[in-house]
Amino acid sequence: MPSYVAAIDQGTTSTRTMLFDHSGRVVASDQREHKQIFPQAGWVEHDAEEIWANVRATAAGALADADITAADVVAVGITNQRETTLVWDRNTGKPVYNAIVWQDTRTDRIITDLGALGGGQERYRDKTGLPLATYFSGPKIKWILDNVDGVRQRAEAGDLLFGNMDTWVLWNMTGGPDGGVHVTDPTNASRTMLMDLDTLSWDEGIAADMGIPLSMLPEIRSSSEKYGKVRERGALGGVPISGILGDQQAATFGQACLSPGEAKNTYGTGNFVLLNTGTDKVMSQNGLLTTVCYKIGSNDTVYALEGSIAVTGSLVQWLRDNLNMISSAAEIERYAKEVDDNGGAYVVPAFSGLFAPYWRSDARGVIVGLTRFVNKGHLARAVLEATAFQSREVIDAMNADSGVPLKSLKVDGGMVVNDLLMQFQADILGVSVIRPVVNETTALGAAYAAGLAIGFWESEEDIRSNWAKDKQWDPTMDDERRDREYRNWKKAVTKTFDWVE
Ligand code: G3P
Repeated sequence: MPSYVAAIDQGTTSTRTMLFDHSGRVVASDQREHKQIFPQAGWVEHDAEEIWANVRATAAGALADADITAADVVAVGITNQRETTLVWDRNTGKPVYNAIVWQDTRTDRIITDLGALGGGQERYRDKTGLPLATYFSGPKIKWILDNVDGVRQRAEAGDLLFGNMDTWVLWNMTGGPDGGVHVTDPTNASRTMLMDLDTLSWDEGIAADMGIPLSMLPEIRSSSEKYGKVRERGALGGVPISGILGDQQAATFGQACLSPGEAKNTYGTGNFVLLNTGTDKVMSQNGLLTTVCYKIGSNDTVYALEGSIAVTGSLVQWLRDNLNMISSAAEIERYAKEVDDNGGAYVVPAFSGLFAPYWRSDARGVIVGLTRFVNKGHLARAVLEATAFQSREVIDAMNADSGVPLKSLKVDGGMVVNDLLMQFQADILGVSVIRPVVNETTALGAAYAAGLAIGFWESEEDIRSNWAKDKQWDPTMDDERRDREYRNWKKAVTKTFDWVE
């Protein structure tokens, strides 16, 4: 009787449940999108109850797809959009406010005020590895406590819980108000701006700065151990939940970037380049984040340097949904292929300000270089190129921080089916770009974490040997053109600054 590991991937635009066999192959999958709520410019929210309903529906859907039952599943892993912040009532399970999404910039003022306490943007860098920016959870919790009626009193009375989406899903799966487990892992906790990177525990001083009661915060456990079982009523009823990894760390794990110096780039709503730095916590001098890569059971903590890019795939969605310029994401490549280059146009999608390596919340998006010559094809191309240019910027920062230039780049995520983009990425980086056979590395990484904890996979060697190359793109662009294009891009970026006062 074959057995499987389930992974729940609670992402920014959708929730998926996938089932994997021992070779790391996808045997079934089910996916549901949820609403993106934009109450005003710069704000992005999700309905957490809709997301929980989607978790249950996709878990049932994946089992039905494979024609199996919970008895065939040995473990469940959870992976999730990181930083997205939810506060709910521990007695009723009701959220007090929508989840505030990682892309949301409403905490701009809170960030400035915290920096003004001393230390500016670098105030919490030594402890947390992060610059003060709207991206992270702590200031989002503070916003909810400060702005939603009665919430601060309820939090101080011990009635409210905070969680990122991993914690929300785990707490509900393990019983909700009826004994739900309130736990997170260090990869997620390292993105709250509340966790000490050395001790992997909540930092009381930072929580006090932000006025966050410690009683709201989940217990930080490792990324791979048994946290509890799925309550009997659910589709996966009775199965142990034994892995949690933030989605980008999960993709790093699923890509088998298990040794120092190995890196991957995931092309999702945003792009996230993570470089495994082993048990060394490398502090960036070049605008990257220092973050927990994974902690498997009682093994030493493995750290990573991360280049986070807020808007890549979501720029293509914006063309589809807000401008109706294309009717499906796949169409962008068709238009881009109609031309040989960008016609002089550059699109810098600073919709959430700019993340790495700039960390400028005052930036907003621009399209520059327009002439009467520029057509739809050129713009489509400029949109795709924006992803590659932004990736180059964070990889340059990584090379500068590590002192060892990357020799090739492993890629995954939705946009890596796009040949034109992958070729341009190799060209603009000047190194080869490599896609694995199993592109679902995020869900796979969470499955590996869960499966390792219960002995379904024995060691990280199993993960390495399951990884296989599907396709490779080698650079063909000459140096002069590469340098010219990149110079133009850098100039375009400067046009986004100082937009928000
Ligand atoms: O930090 C945000 C990141 O975890 C979101 O990833 O794939 O849901 O866009 P994704």
